[in-house]
Amino acid sequence: MSNQHNDPTGQVAELDGPDRFENPGIEPHRHRLGDHDEAAAKRSESIVVLLLTISILASIAGVVLYVIIPVGTNLADIRLSTLSLGLGLGIGFLGIGLAAIHWAKSLMNDEEQVEMRHPQASNEVERAEAVEIIEQGVKDANIARRPLLKGALVGAIALAPLPFVVPLIGNLGRDWDIDKFRHTVWGDTPEDADPEYFGETSDGRVGRRLALDPTGTPVRAADVTRNSVFHIIPQGIEEEENWHSEKAKAVVILVRLDQDLLTEAPDRRDWSYDGIVAYSKICTHVGCPVALYEQTTHELLCPCHQSTFDMTDGAKVVFGPAKRPLPQLPIAVDTDGYLIATADFDEPIGPSYWERLK
Ligand code: FES
Repeated sequence: MSNQHNDPTGQVAELDGPDRFENPGIEPHRHRLGDHDEAAAKRSESIVVLLLTISILASIAGVVLYVIIPVGTNLADIRLSTLSLGLGLGIGFLGIGLAAIHWAKSLMNDEEQVEMRHPQASNEVERAEAVEIIEQGVKDANIARRPLLKGALVGAIALAPLPFVVPLIGNLGRDWDIDKFRHTVWGDTPEDADPEYFGETSDGRVGRRLALDPTGTPVRAADVTRNSVFHIIPQGIEEEENWHSEKAKAVVILVRLDQDLLTEAPDRRDWSYDGIVAYSKICTHVGCPVALYEQTTHELLCPCHQSTFDMTDGAKVVFGPAKRPLPQLPIAVDTDGYLIATADFDEPIGPSYWERLK
């Protein structure tokens, strides 16, 4: 290791005596091939130029594809256009980044700089002054002559973290009663609540009526306009015991889509009605209300951390930290034309947690 350093005047000075440090194990500097071989340096330059060229082409391609791909209401075109633009941007920046790294590593000045360090500790005089200041502070506080004050101060400092620590420890062993997330009032029958809030389909299925939040007005299928979002609660929810928490679990987002846009699993074909689908409004990430509907892409966005769910395809996650689709509420229309839930959500609502299997 060199025993030289650059002093503030810019001159190179010898560093000896007490300021000199032992080499901690740094190996001797190895020069690169390109430092003494012009052909190798030329190769490095070519690689940098190639990476920058890729970046240029990707940027141009991204913009060209964005311009030529028609963005109407076709979902596939919208995805393709967004993908091209994203790839153009991504590869463009990646090319510049890789070129910069390769340039710095293979072509830039490879001279090794050594900066010597001096002992950091304060000198004896400064340390003695600091101790004196602290002792003077303790003396000024008069704490030694006031044991009651001293005891109160120690007690306050010792107990202050408890409001944080005790709930933390208490919650570790607490029974969280996870089962309550497996059931919502959508799964109730006329025996569990006022039968007037239930309807029956022509094929004999009985279920609770869907009502508008917050008015509680039951919703007719014919009134659900295409591509509008309806915020739904179970009719008569306010008469339930603990109705605030029951409502919080049962809130639903309802949308009517073109029937031919829907991708439905064979066992869920009768869970929607004429393009109308209903999903839990509770985000499966950490439980925020998912309420921002994008009409063009038919996606539902959670405002908290941008999880995005595809309403045309089982509310599957297409972006963001959520790991599960929104639970679906099976719906049908009763003989009076009102929407009813024919069963509870297909799985527990809300965030994923450690006990759940699904
Ligand atoms: S709570 Fe919805 S994305 Fe986090």
